[in-house]
Amino acid sequence: MTVVDDIKSQIDLVDIVSQTVKLRKAGKNYSGFCPFHSNTRTPAFVVFPETQTWRCFGQCNTGGDVFGYVMKRENWDFGETLKYLADKAGVTLPSYQPANEKAEEVKKTIAQLLQDAADYYRQQMIDTKQGQEALAYLRKRGLNDETIKIWGLGYAPAGWNELTNAMKRRGYTDALLVEAGLATERDDGGIYDRFRHRLMFPIRDTYGKMAGFGGRVLDPNDVPKYINSPKTELFDKGRLLYGLDLARQAIRAEEQAVIVEGYMDVIGLYQAGFKNAISPMGTALTEDQFRLLKKFSRNLVLALDPDAAGEKATLKGLETARKTMDQDTELTYDARGLLRMESRLSADIRVTTLPDGRDPDEIALADPEAWREILTQAKPVVMHVMEMAARDQDLNDAKVKREIAAQIVPLIEDVADPVEREAYRQALARMLKIDERALMGAAPPTRKARSKPAREMTVPSQERIATPAQRNRLLERVVLQALARDPEALFKLNRALVKLGIPSLNEKDFVESDFVIAFQIIQTALQQDEVATIDFVKENLPEDLELNAAEEPEFNDVRPISEAKRLEELIRNVLRIRRNLVEHRINEIVYLQSAEMEEKLYSDEEAQFLLLEQLNQRRLIDVALRLPDAGGNGKAFTTNKGTTRVKK
Ligand code: GTP
Ligand code: MN
Repeated sequence: MTVVDDIKSQIDLVDIVSQTVKLRKAGKNYSGFCPFHSNTRTPAFVVFPETQTWRCFGQCNTGGDVFGYVMKRENWDFGETLKYLADKAGVTLPSYQPANEKAEEVKKTIAQLLQDAADYYRQQMIDTKQGQEALAYLRKRGLNDETIKIWGLGYAPAGWNELTNAMKRRGYTDALLVEAGLATERDDGGIYDRFRHRLMFPIRDTYGKMAGFGGRVLDPNDVPKYINSPKTELFDKGRLLYGLDLARQAIRAEEQAVIVEGYMDVIGLYQAGFKNAISPMGTALTEDQFRLLKKFSRNLVLALDPDAAGEKATLKGLETARKTMDQDTELTYDARGLLRMESRLSADIRVTTLPDGRDPDEIALADPEAWREILTQAKPVVMHVMEMAARDQDLNDAKVKREIAAQIVPLIEDVADPVEREAYRQALARMLKIDERALMGAAPPTRKARSKPAREMTVPSQERIATPAQRNRLLERVVLQALARDPEALFKLNRALVKLGIPSLNEKDFVESDFVIAFQIIQTALQQDEVATIDFVKENLPEDLELNAAEEPEFNDVRPISEAKRLEELIRNVLRIRRNLVEHRINEIVYLQSAEMEEKLYSDEEAQFLLLEQLNQRRLIDVALRLPDAGGNGKAFTTNKGTTRVKK
């Protein structure tokens, strides 16, 4: 139960409106003159106690809940209204923020410190003798000064307290230097530089904000070869991709991201004109990293080492990619006629095999065309894995055949294009020397689970919730939570709705004032390009909207495996909201034309027209939801290879 729920359960809209408007009971509802526009002839303002909503059917043609009413009446924002209504309801508002704001402040300071450190390292490279040696090394590797500057490369001097002293002179504290991952604490207190006599690679987040450093040895006898920042508030190597800040535009423009192994590869490729390369930081690719990437492109080329470890990393990365990218969804109906989403891997993943012992930077800087050729030779991942699985195996052994098929068939099933899918099936059948039809049964249980009829999603404990107003609030919340967790789902949702002949989700679908605001924030988040959508939502969603205070605490926990399922639920819930709205609208029209009203608001023809409009929408929604009493019983639709068409 959130504060807003609490307030709403304590307050009656009829009381609040009655403070300033003279209401008359007319049937189940109340009507009066609208306080928001001047009119003394038609009482076009109606309060619906059951849904705790109001609407002006006259000039304003708006409506909403109690919050919206008070906001409009007093010209307050949501926060002010919340305070007022909480007070009225006798609900204590929890005090928010301070702790949070402080944490944000600290993060900003750390980012600034890291930037100052990057500037310092660069200065050291230019101004000191040892730094010049580092610079010479970079030049020997083929990098020019422009590239070195763009990537902010630098030199960490050899002493134990060079950076720390320089930063302390600027007013940064020991504690902050440690928190930023630039210094390490000594046992006896005091701190020392983490990076000493190393080539420094600043690591930034997707939007260019400093996050940490990688430091490469200059002396080949030093170990380890690379040191990264430790995990800090800003640096989590599983959640960052090196180079994405500089590569993201090229990735979008070229509709392809090339994943390489190291910092030097990213930079070398960039200089050679291949600006769409990024790399993880010495670890296998994580789901978070794929999620970062897929915002920019779903065409990935893995250009990793040819050795055994490299192959393993490739496979692991592929597995992760499947989990994360597995989410392009088609609206379909299953055998029982339930609306469901089919998912296919929506990424095109290719794998290049690098010539033994040569890194991408070396190849591309020496001969860009050779690198381009390697990229064009990249094999679709299914073929690649097929070849790898078959290597050094006895393909006449039935058990081996079965194992390979079990590994490859799911990959094939993921391929979006049916023709391509068929070609892979044939290739696999040929390789294993078996009948293609035998492959159909080889898929592991995950596929079978998917083809089970979709369980009908119900809003949790809907039946136990008392009033229509509360039911509606719950529905709206569930929808918004889903969108707040995965804002991009809005696009998919709207595409699905449009396909069904139903208008896109818009703020008028939300009766609840706090959720209208939340929805607006989500829309803005999707329109801006300054920070990651999800971060924008998190930063801007006022805590008192309490979206995340409800059932699911892990606001940020997106489980990619069930993404299709979740989209399906989202669509169903939005259709339910719509259906309630339409139902309400129909009741309104009937009510407005009823004998209970002193004066009819519409002419009979107008009312007839409005009703037909609503009835038509209701029919479309019912068909989409496959409700048993739907007009036409689903005949208005034919399912054609999984996609839904509207037959006129
Ligand atoms: P060069 O050898 O200068 O071409 O650098 P590279 O980036 O190609 O290095 P390499 O191929 O050896 O390693 C690839 C990536 O793995 C590096 O960019 C680092 O991110 C990471 N890495 C390599 N060695 C280490 C290590 O010893 N420790 C850590 N933490 N990461 C490493
Ligand atoms: Mn290398």
